[in-house]
Amino acid sequence: MRILNDNKLMLEGDENTLITFLGENVVNFKIYRRLEPKYRVIDTESLRKVKVYISKRDDRIFAGDGRINITYNLKKRAFKLSCNNIDFCAHNVILSNKKYFIHIMWKNEYVYGLGERAVKFNRRGLRLRLLNMDPSVYRANDDPLYLNIPFLLMIGENFSYGFFLNTIRESIFDLCHNNDDKIVVESHGLEVNYYIIFGRSPIDVIREYTKLVGRAPLPPLWALGYHQSRAPFPPIFSIKMIIGGYRNEENVLKIAEEFRKRKIPCDVIYLDIDYMDGFKPFTWHPKRFKNYRSMLKKLNRMGFKVVTIIDPYIKYEPQSPMFRKYLEKNFFVKRDDKIFIGYGWPGKTVFPDFTREEVREWWAQLHKDLLESGVSGIWNDMNEPTFNVRLFGKKDLSRVRFYAGSLDEFRNIYANLMAIATWNAFKLFKKNKRPYILSRSGYAGIQKYAAVWTGDNISNWSHLRLSISMILSLGLCGLPFVGADIGGWAKIVAKKPYFARCTPELFARWIQLGIFYPLCRSHSMIFSQEPWVFGRDVENIAKKYIRLRYRLIPYIYSLFWEHTQNGMPIMRPLFLYYPEDDRSHRDDEFLLGPFMLIAPVLEKGSRSRVVYLPRQVWYDYWSMKKYEGGVISVKAPLDTIPIFIRSGAIIPTQPILNYIGERMVDVTLEIYPGNGSFTLYEDDGITIDSKYSLTKIINYMRGDKWNAMIERRRGEYNPRRKLYVYFRGIEEAEKILVNNKNIRPIELRRDGFIIDIGDNTKDIKINLSSIKLLDK
Ligand code: GLC
Repeated sequence: MRILNDNKLMLEGDENTLITFLGENVVNFKIYRRLEPKYRVIDTESLRKVKVYISKRDDRIFAGDGRINITYNLKKRAFKLSCNNIDFCAHNVILSNKKYFIHIMWKNEYVYGLGERAVKFNRRGLRLRLLNMDPSVYRANDDPLYLNIPFLLMIGENFSYGFFLNTIRESIFDLCHNNDDKIVVESHGLEVNYYIIFGRSPIDVIREYTKLVGRAPLPPLWALGYHQSRAPFPPIFSIKMIIGGYRNEENVLKIAEEFRKRKIPCDVIYLDIDYMDGFKPFTWHPKRFKNYRSMLKKLNRMGFKVVTIIDPYIKYEPQSPMFRKYLEKNFFVKRDDKIFIGYGWPGKTVFPDFTREEVREWWAQLHKDLLESGVSGIWNDMNEPTFNVRLFGKKDLSRVRFYAGSLDEFRNIYANLMAIATWNAFKLFKKNKRPYILSRSGYAGIQKYAAVWTGDNISNWSHLRLSISMILSLGLCGLPFVGADIGGWAKIVAKKPYFARCTPELFARWIQLGIFYPLCRSHSMIFSQEPWVFGRDVENIAKKYIRLRYRLIPYIYSLFWEHTQNGMPIMRPLFLYYPEDDRSHRDDEFLLGPFMLIAPVLEKGSRSRVVYLPRQVWYDYWSMKKYEGGVISVKAPLDTIPIFIRSGAIIPTQPILNYIGERMVDVTLEIYPGNGSFTLYEDDGITIDSKYSLTKIINYMRGDKWNAMIERRRGEYNPRRKLYVYFRGIEEAEKILVNNKNIRPIELRRDGFIIDIGDNTKDIKINLSSIKLLDK
């Protein structure tokens, strides 16, 4: 073993081993016969460099930077890693038949990760393949699906660690399936490249992992509102058969008007494939969307943003001069040396080869008219890629290839490359505005360009539940902006059961849960699923919860900012905060940010819910009843989703709006008894280089005193709003001092009171004395 430079070690042999220590508990291993950089997701050398020390005793080599230490056993050719005297990772690597096998000892219970999967949340015991695919409607346990990420989060008894396989190629993860105490990772090619990330807690691991693969930028603020979408019937036969989608201008405007008339907040309307002429990307239907420009203007004036779907192909039309022009470019995926013709919604189609930069540039240019005429976001679908819309038949995919390499080698990264092309389109045609891209497929790093949704789920109760672990897993893998189709997408399923239909009850339960998805979109095939189609009662429930979503926007937006700082997801499993508590390893409850615990009702007919609360004080959001943790049972009538607030919580809220940006609004900080802190993030919500403002809030109680400190806002952005503080869970306070001046509440509520603190251009200290808390 020799040191190459400060932080790199080289171990030469049949296979070379290059070990790089990358500050803050991260080590990269490259073991190779031949280096294969083009198959890597990342090449990160930019983390803080550390200095490595090395020594040898008998047949062991010791190397480390003082924190992380590696022992290499020359005889067994095995590595042991330890950090702060915790041995956390023993593994060895074997090359066999052009494949590398990493054997990792893992006796502990919990293994999470690998992206979007419809299998059990804790992956222990499973063998999973990572290859992006279109399952064309999936059911529980179908695997793999559209989006794979070769990242594992392992949680041991007093430590956590992450494992990231740095390859874009197909891989297989055996997670204690064949061998109870071993994880075996199978990676193709002549280089195996992986990162090991140590953390005291899973939160540390996520921070370092997202530093490596990159974090999501802030979305445009409007994208945090409610999104409405509807799909047509799959276009198998003739266009006349299409029912269901928003299929003409009147139809779209009518939906928009309904939202405003019924005062149900909504920001985004989607146009699925039937806005196009024969489903051809970058066209508008000449009759049904003849005046699309004026339709878009009207919608924009009403406060709606429009997102259009774009599939990754061009219709094969040898007669059309336009198509021939495209063909001349020779920009498409090939089979042998000829252009490959597959099937998309328009029938025969050819597929852009996004592995080439000039293709990405050309594709970006194609968005000019859409983005300049008032479309605000682009929805990338079928990007696994689906070369075979099954309804049309099946094309042989052997020998299909990209410029960069074979289909199997590059398909996992196709969606990321398409998203980059789309991102470039925004750069060209929307100048400094933040892109909004929604992608179905993706791989590690997709979060830098796009939000994702969990594809074609089914309108049934098992998918309601599945949506939670799927979104949580994506969050752990670095994707904060994720949603599932609220209400369920598929109504007709190719496999048994053949029919599914969102019932009023299921929709009520789904919308209650869905407003806590980072991406809050209702989408469905054929049958409409707008909040009002299930009758008055369910409409009122939907309205109540969509409005709650809008009240929480300042909180949720600040969580997106937090992600940019530390990689934390928006929707969080309980175990992120209580990793040692076995009962926090669950998929039927989750946290929105640090403070709100959501326990949705997931069973048909159920009107109550058994909830597990980790040991500490929680408040029932609706009644302010106090709990000390443990298993409880609460009532949950159809209009109620159980929500619990962690003691000491600080939740910034705003008044209800029809859409984001409708008018300037003030912010109310809802503060709960206990100790806590939070940072409120504000900016213009739309431009990439917006100035921003940060307000740190600290909440603490001592005996019968309750104090809050709202620090002077930092940053150059002036939010032009007032701040209010709503102390919840308090019956009375003898004195309320704001910066040592006695004040009175501006409003008394059943469970607390609201005070006006004006602006926070100066530090604000609030002291409540001789308080009496609500006793419930
Ligand atoms: C795919 C998408 C779905 C969309 C449909 C028609 O199945 O996953 O969301 O509605 O195609 O474009």
